Amino acid sequence: MKLIDGKTVAEKIHEQTHASVQMLAKRGHRPGLAVILVGDNPASRTYVRKKAEQCAKLGFHSVKLELPENTSQGELLAHVATFNQDPEIHGILVQSPLPTHINEAKIVHAISPEKDVDGFHPINVAKLALEDPSGFIPCTPLGCRCLLLEYGVPISGANVVVLGRSMIVGKSLALLLMQRGSGGDATVTVAHSRTLHLETITRAADIVITAIGSPHFLQAKHVRDGAVVIDVGINRVEDASQKNGYRLVGDVDFENVAPKCSLITPVPGGVGPMTIAMLLSNTIKACCQIHGVQVLHST
Ligand code: GUN
Repeated sequence: MKLIDGKTVAEKIHEQTHASVQMLAKRGHRPGLAVILVGDNPASRTYVRKKAEQCAKLGFHSVKLELPENTSQGELLAHVATFNQDPEIHGILVQSPLPTHINEAKIVHAISPEKDVDGFHPINVAKLALEDPSGFIPCTPLGCRCLLLEYGVPISGANVVVLGRSMIVGKSLALLLMQRGSGGDATVTVAHSRTLHLETITRAADIVITAIGSPHFLQAKHVRDGAVVIDVGINRVEDASQKNGYRLVGDVDFENVAPKCSLITPVPGGVGPMTIAMLLSNTIKACCQIHGVQVLHST
């Protein structure tokens, strides 16, 4: 069993992104990312802080807008409209989940598709399904594919089982891995909470990817010997021995599953760091497309 080191791969991507920032600077452009956080969900706060820190490190223009929990939908839409018009901003991310009084779909629709670096806008979802390379692909699926490619895992023709059918991860990942060409051509099965005979399905997989948000869900009985397991879950479980009272675990019963795998991602340190790397990479792509310039590196 070998661990997939997401932190190291993410660092490599950040270096490429940094080189792209420098190339853009020579042409008078600076990629800009706006991140909007509504309310004070502690996990979201951490993610948003990490995104802003990495932006600063790589020389991005970065705006972090923190709004109170009682922000109205209209107010949030007005902020999105302002960033849509702002020539210094190329990427806009509204951190999910939003408070329940806000219709998340309405907000996503309001983001200009050219600046939708999350890839959640219907135009970008359609472009992913249509294999139009000008679209933005959600960051977590991109991060998963990047890890598989970096570790030389054959994707073409492989049996991939994705657990979870969210738009952010499961469904997008299925579309991504079945695209034609490099990094695609997989035979993808999407399993979910209503799937019957899950064990039979996952045991036939060369690659199992879990994105369900359920600690210890995937067990040793679910995977065949030599499988590759990618754990997208980030779950907080109570742990009095930790100074903040919790620890992070994935969707995989790591202790029992890992010995059976050829490759497996840890949590933390697997997919998590890749998501930010792909976000900044998508922002470079947005900046290039908006200004009609090309740099070597892109997602
Ligand atoms: N919340 C958890 N993951 C994500 C993500 O990739 N994008 C946004 N906007 N919110 C999230």
